[in-house]
Amino acid sequence: MLNDLHSIKKSVQEEAEKAESLQDIQNLKIRYLGKKGLLTGKIKTLSSIPKEQRPEYGRSLNEIKNFTEELLDSKEKAFKASELDTSLQTQQIDVTVPGCYTPSGRLHPVTQVLNEIIGIFVSLGFSVEEGPEIELDYYNFEALNFPKDHPARDMQDTFFISDDVVLRTHTSSVQVRVMEKNSPPLRVIAPGKVYRCDADVSHIPMFHQLEGFMVDRHIRMSDLKGMLELFIHRVFGPETSLRFRPSFFPFTEPSAEIDISCVMCKGAGCNVCSGTGWIEILGAGMINPRVYESAGYDPDVYTGFAFGLGIERVAMLKYEINDIRLFPENDKRFLEQF
Ligand code: DAH
Repeated sequence: MLNDLHSIKKSVQEEAEKAESLQDIQNLKIRYLGKKGLLTGKIKTLSSIPKEQRPEYGRSLNEIKNFTEELLDSKEKAFKASELDTSLQTQQIDVTVPGCYTPSGRLHPVTQVLNEIIGIFVSLGFSVEEGPEIELDYYNFEALNFPKDHPARDMQDTFFISDDVVLRTHTSSVQVRVMEKNSPPLRVIAPGKVYRCDADVSHIPMFHQLEGFMVDRHIRMSDLKGMLELFIHRVFGPETSLRFRPSFFPFTEPSAEIDISCVMCKGAGCNVCSGTGWIEILGAGMINPRVYESAGYDPDVYTGFAFGLGIERVAMLKYEINDIRLFPENDKRFLEQF
């Protein structure tokens, strides 16, 4: 019986020696040590060995089992190591192969400028509101003190949907909507698309504006001035000067148009500023008491300012673009520059 065990040991040794792959070793493990393996079988029959031979037989069996385990484990390890070696050699990575080009998208320049401007006002405590682009004549005109037959309506080339519904011509339409739903103090900006029937190098039928307004007790024109100065300095740099020119808007009294010193020639005069050294940048004023009446606010209690700004205009000045029509064209050669 002991001879039996010794011949098993010998065959393990011989077969392990002949093994050529990891798979061969794994097969040997199953053959000798698996559930139905040769050595496992011997252990199972231990109880049928005569009592007096059992201790010595058991010891030898154990020894051969351990020997087999160790031998096959170390062979397995060796094969694994050499397989790794060959795969490292045959599957070398060439770090000089050019990579795949993954084009990355970016935000439209108008969106970038809009986000920057919104960020500035949010940092000053303004909240952001939106209104509909298809708007009632009431919010776009009537509530802002443009009566139906008022000549000031001609300032804006309106797209009419029906007698009472328009594509909003300015984001000032959001003012009374916000005032109706909230009470002062208000500090609001309303960015968005607006529409006018107009097209040339400096006009497109759909463009972006940002309306801002503040309503509280004791708001003065100097508050408007200080706030706009801070805003312009953040967008165009602290060396930029501002100039308030008297103007007219039905929803502000007094009204002003605000110019900044030309960002190209720094005020010396060039073709961007038509030689004047100044560029018109926004409209503003103190909110007309008529607007508070539309909103149901007491004009004797509250005062406030409003301003409106064209986003494409700011982007054109910032990036030195001379034709506003480039923005909606979506030519990648243009867009990739921002
Ligand atoms: N809504 C005016 C426009 O589109 C711009 C504007 C002017 C807005 C004066 C204002 C303002 O809030 O006070 O031309």
